[in-house]
Amino acid sequence: MSIDRTTTSDVIIIGGGAAGLMCARVAGLRGKRVRVVEHANRCGKKILMSGGGRCNFTNTGTTPANFLSNNPHFCKSALARYTPQHFIDMVEAHGIAYHEKELGQLFCDESSKLIVKMLLDECADAGVRIDTSCSVEGVEKTDDGFRVRTTLGELRAPSLVVATGGLSIPSMGATGFGYELARQFGHTVLPTRAGLVPLTMTGKPQERFAELSGVSLPVTAQCNGRAFSNFMLITHRGVSGPAILQISSYWNVGDELLLDLLPQADAFETLKSLRASRPGIELRTALAEFFPKRFAERLCEVWFPSRPIRQYNDPQLREIATFLQAFPLIANGTEGYRTAEVTLGGVDTDELSSSTMMSKHLPGLHFIGEVVDVTGWLGGYNFQWAWASGNAAGMAV
Ligand code: FDA
Repeated sequence: MSIDRTTTSDVIIIGGGAAGLMCARVAGLRGKRVRVVEHANRCGKKILMSGGGRCNFTNTGTTPANFLSNNPHFCKSALARYTPQHFIDMVEAHGIAYHEKELGQLFCDESSKLIVKMLLDECADAGVRIDTSCSVEGVEKTDDGFRVRTTLGELRAPSLVVATGGLSIPSMGATGFGYELARQFGHTVLPTRAGLVPLTMTGKPQERFAELSGVSLPVTAQCNGRAFSNFMLITHRGVSGPAILQISSYWNVGDELLLDLLPQADAFETLKSLRASRPGIELRTALAEFFPKRFAERLCEVWFPSRPIRQYNDPQLREIATFLQAFPLIANGTEGYRTAEVTLGGVDTDELSSSTMMSKHLPGLHFIGEVVDVTGWLGGYNFQWAWASGNAAGMAV
């Protein structure tokens, strides 16, 4: 579809993802004439692929503590004004069935397509016009607002909302355009890096885990004063799984990362009581009671040669226990934006209003969603930030 050569509306939103669609809906319902410009051939591609195709659309336990940002207070206002319940109410009004998987994480029973359809239906009802396959060629400030030059023509509006997301999964349409635009208008962009991302290992650390690819076990991963208890999955290139993805957002190359491989137990007391009750069993058999067999065997091949457990004295058992509860994971990097769920860093919140997401430098310019330096934990928090920040800007434009 071609848009008129020059079209004026009240709001132009660049990016038809989670935050952009929410903002469009809210502004449209307030009677604003809204244009959404999306360069991909359809809106909400990340929503479609999220949550393994079932979209973990919010987390009922969302608090500001679940987000990383240079200013941890920034997200508070928007999150308080658009809560998980607000989004749940919309999901229920559209008859979308959902369930809680764990830890407050809400997923669609059927498909994330239903969330995209819901947002597009809401936008249509609010009179929002969306142009997909439409690339932005440039943005200029004018006397009365902004001029956005697109491949389909020129758009003008007094308000411009940048909702272009982060850098993760470039194959899904992610670009650094929002950061470039922020810099163009004098904003600071804090360094970006991949978050919620698998960690990679090389050399000896990787060799020790070789042939364990596919093994999954509960751990507590600790780094820089943060700890996450959940599953870890050993992969061909390193480690992944929810515990690792969570801690990856707090880890930088060179930081110490410790794993408690027996998070539910006191390893020393457990090994001691096994020695008392079954002194003849081999250490590898004892460990296989707590770990997948292949993992227990590898522990004994690499770190502590297996003997009947009665042959270990207390200091030796304590040494094994300490190792199991503070296992040093030596990662050399991350899988990067190719597989990361989110981008840490971004548009500096110090230069935005926390209630309207508007630039403190340039009235009428707003930044929402992942392009802003607010990043949630794994578990529906990132969508909740997209909805909340989209709502905040949608109420203000
Ligand atoms: P989003 O990326 O959704 O949208 C940005 C839009 O802008 C895209 O449509 C893009 O094509 C468009 N765009 C970019 N540059 C443009 C340009 N120059 N011109 C026009 N358009 C442009 N979170 C969560 O809470 N629960 C979950 O289950 C998951 N699961 C998940 C799985 C995977 C594989 C990934 C990669 C990510 C998740 N996430 C998630 C994170 C979540 O998807 C993410 O935080 C939000 O989609 C961010 O919303 P935004 O609207 O900011 O960006």
